[in-house]
Amino acid sequence: MDSALIDKTVEFILEANHAIVLTGAGISTESGVPDFRSPGGIWERYDPTMFFIERFLAEPGEVWRCMLDMNTSGEFKLWDALPNKGHLALAYLEGIGRIKTVITQNIDNLHQKAGSCHVIEFHGNMLQARCMSCSNRYGYQQVMTEFEGHIPPRCPCGGILKPDAVFFGEAIPQEALQESFTEADDCDLMLVIGTSAQVEPAASLPLIAKGMNPQYRGLGIMPIPKQRCHIIEINREPTPLTGRVSDFLIRGSAGEVLSRIEDTIRAKTG
Ligand code: APR
Repeated sequence: MDSALIDKTVEFILEANHAIVLTGAGISTESGVPDFRSPGGIWERYDPTMFFIERFLAEPGEVWRCMLDMNTSGEFKLWDALPNKGHLALAYLEGIGRIKTVITQNIDNLHQKAGSCHVIEFHGNMLQARCMSCSNRYGYQQVMTEFEGHIPPRCPCGGILKPDAVFFGEAIPQEALQESFTEADDCDLMLVIGTSAQVEPAASLPLIAKGMNPQYRGLGIMPIPKQRCHIIEINREPTPLTGRVSDFLIRGSAGEVLSRIEDTIRAKTG
């Protein structure tokens, strides 16, 4: 772990007026929640088309059985996963007013469990299910107990319940999308943590932050670069943003790097 880059990042955080964070599955792997595209990740073990919205609409029972299997196999135990020191460090930085917002692609609720308050769930939340007829929402445990054995689980109104995560082919919740784009445009520092930056439109947020996305801040095909915005990546490996969009990559585990950043800021600010 590069101490000079840690110190540089601490400097940027202490100088920033509007620092935000974009997280992906990599920040939760140290909580025992596998990511998607690393070796041994979820998409190596489960067919991603299982989470296409068309598949769910055609065969909701099969998709629910797959999710139950994930949960019983311990591969994707979400509701009893605990936040790790990476989540806790971000909650600390928000608590001392250094981070304004966490935009997460994760559906595991771990930022909230760690104490982060301003969290935008870009891909929804797997810990709830929503009725596709009346839109009533139910907690996962409630679904597993009350509707146990009924696959797919149904709402008392008769509608089929769907997990409240965004499936491939579904729109990002409008409010989350708009607020995230605005935060990315307004920020002067974005930490991009534990994401392979391959899935749109989340992968565009760092480009919007840097003023490199002509569709969001530009004259047609001409982007209008922002005066000043640092993009810092924290990841075990380079991503498509590295060397192209981000100022630098701190290579290492999110938990280790973020707790080093937290410790350095605690020492500096008392
Ligand atoms: N510390 C730092 N980085 C890590 C760690 C860790 N402990 N563990 C994994 N990573 C990195 C991996 O190297 C990879 O670059 O986190 C990234 C995880 O990438 P993905 O598995 O692709 O997850 P993510 O980027 O969040 O995927 C985006 O794709 O499948 C959809 O909806 C799903 O939200 C998800 C979206």
